[in-house]
Amino acid sequence: MKYRRFGRLNWEVSALGFGVMRLPTLEGDEGKINEPNAIKMIRYALDNGVNYVDTAYPYHRGNSEILLGETLQEGYREKVKVATKMPTWLVKSQEDMDKFLDEQLHKLKLDYVDFYLLHGLEHKRWQLLKKLNVLEWGDRQIANGKINHLGFSFHDEYSVFKEIVDSYEWTLCQIQYNYMDAKYQAGTKGLKYAASKGLAVVVMEPIAGGRLAINPPEEIQKIWREDGGERTPAEWALQWVWNHPEVSVALSGMSTMDQVIENVQSANRSKPSIFSKKDLNFINRIQRKYKELGFVGCTSCKYCLPCPEGVDIPQILALYNEYFAEERNNEVKKKYWQYITPESQAKRCMKCGKCEELCPQQLPIRKILNGATWVFEQAV
Ligand SMILES: NC(=O)c1ccc[n+]([C@@H]2O[C@H](COP(=O)([O-])OP(=O)(O)OC[C@H]3O[C@@H](n4cnc5c(N)ncnc54)[C@H](OP(=O)(O)O)[C@@H]3O)[C@@H](O)[C@H]2O)c1
Repeated sequence: MKYRRFGRLNWEVSALGFGVMRLPTLEGDEGKINEPNAIKMIRYALDNGVNYVDTAYPYHRGNSEILLGETLQEGYREKVKVATKMPTWLVKSQEDMDKFLDEQLHKLKLDYVDFYLLHGLEHKRWQLLKKLNVLEWGDRQIANGKINHLGFSFHDEYSVFKEIVDSYEWTLCQIQYNYMDAKYQAGTKGLKYAASKGLAVVVMEPIAGGRLAINPPEEIQKIWREDGGERTPAEWALQWVWNHPEVSVALSGMSTMDQVIENVQSANRSKPSIFSKKDLNFINRIQRKYKELGFVGCTSCKYCLPCPEGVDIPQILALYNEYFAEERNNEVKKKYWQYITPESQAKRCMKCGKCEELCPQQLPIRKILNGATWVFEQAV
């Protein structure tokens, strides 16, 4: 494994971190983790040098932290630093903060957590948390030993990011960063700014939730076949992130053992500033093509679920992308009717907007569902 500086801490982090959000599940149920497989996958990563794991209160409908607690038994706790996050959207008082932290430590079977992040900060949430004196609360938890270091994960514009970075001596921040998002949210500007202020930058969604590796449209596959060389699309995406010296760790939410093995091997080959001019040009071509195809930027993080009306938002958005990438292929329409049950179709959307409040990509989900109704829910 390759290790990198973790901001101002006297500790080195593995280039690859394990995001415990996309584990294998049973019966297509997000909350039912395939425990034996998931434990094997995480332990394989830790046995091969990964020393950073990232979970959060809502992942796998609350079961990610429990699974991780189980995984870290039998000596695995000593191999790794654990990050989890305050469910900021559920917090109305400092008592709530205490309650969630205690519940999370209990689920994780830990006395303290190495890194505690304020989850999904954006302008409104940050203002509310400031009113609740969250930083003073954090300092108190650090003093009483329940948290080692405080950080935040982020989904808003650069100006908001800068304001938050400047508000406190954070140890780390977590930003969405991949070659399609270099100018989105915090972006490269935010990455460089945070690193210059001594924060460790933890990257989430380096493969855009899998979008940059799975089922790329045919026009993009053609570019890979012609010029992609030895690297797989997943490795290209990860190496692009690691190419930035300011990045401390790239988290990937791996869902199969093959992905864990591949990403560990990619991390072993990683190094800051290894991309040649040719490599950068290749990525530019892919970027341009994705932009041309106009993809809806859903990363299938499922933060939008459950929809009160039962709409299967991530699956519908994935099919919507596929439909346009495949030049309005009717076969994709047929898939819609095959996979999306009548109870979870786009037309059931009541436009309440709850999903949009939770979407880290700030996607206009109601509008897209309206488009999907129009595209798919007519006779095939
Ligand atoms: N704080 C926040 O607001 C927030 C938001 C999002 C994520 N996160 C955290 O950041 C972590 C990383 O983000 P992410 O899970 O979106 O990372 P990612 O690496 O961009 O996406 C993970 C997905 O990419 C695909 N993948 C991974 N390795 C692959 C490989 N070698 N070959 C082919 N496909 C591969 C898989 O998709 P399939 O499963 O479809 O095969 C996997 O589920 C999360 O797990 C979570 O811990 C935090």
